[in-house]
Amino acid sequence: MVTSEYPEFVSFTKKWHSAPYPLITATRPELSESGKNVVVTGGGTGIGQGIAIAFAQPGAKSVTVIGRRLEPLKTTAAKITHKSSGKAEARYKVADLQDRQAVDKALANVVASVGKVDILVSSAGVLPKKRSCCRRRPTCHSESL
Ligand SMILES: NC(=O)c1ccc[n+]([C@@H]2O[C@H](COP(=O)([O-])OP(=O)(O)OC[C@H]3O[C@@H](n4cnc5c(N)ncnc54)[C@H](OP(=O)(O)O)[C@@H]3O)[C@@H](O)[C@H]2O)c1
Repeated sequence: MVTSEYPEFVSFTKKWHSAPYPLITATRPELSESGKNVVVTGGGTGIGQGIAIAFAQPGAKSVTVIGRRLEPLKTTAAKITHKSSGKAEARYKVADLQDRQAVDKALANVVASVGKVDILVSSAGVLPKKRSCCRRRPTCHSESL
């Protein structure tokens, strides 16, 4: 059994979804992302990867994932290509979001390559170890977001 240092999650809704369901499926034409350029920070893993793929499936023109590690970004890019049957242009840029110059450079490259960014998803982040806010370093919040 997996134990967690966090309290057990309490759902505020009656039904719990862990995958897209018909009402919000990315394949509904009226929810089409056709022709859009999407950038997802933290797109190499977890929620960001899921979001990146979910934008690619209904027809985004390009999906760029940004993170610090190259390998997870490459993996996501391959999944974007596969899940969109090669229709979405899968792109990745290595950048640390705490490095303003690196972020500016990555985004400038995206714009120069595919055009203006239509959708930016900010999914990069870390969950700090559980402890009082008072004892956190001042940089803790910028590392988290
Ligand atoms: N999963 C949950 O249940 C849950 C619940 C509430 C909130 N959240 C928050 O939602 C966000 C995503 O969660 P997740 O579960 O998808 O976590 P995850 O799998 O750890 O993904 C976080 C991503 O952010 C990237 N990242 C972290 N710091 C970065 C930085 N300085 N610059 C660029 N990229 C950075 C990581 O890639 P690199 O390490 O390669 O940079 C990683 O791909 C996190 O902020 C998390 O705290 C998650």
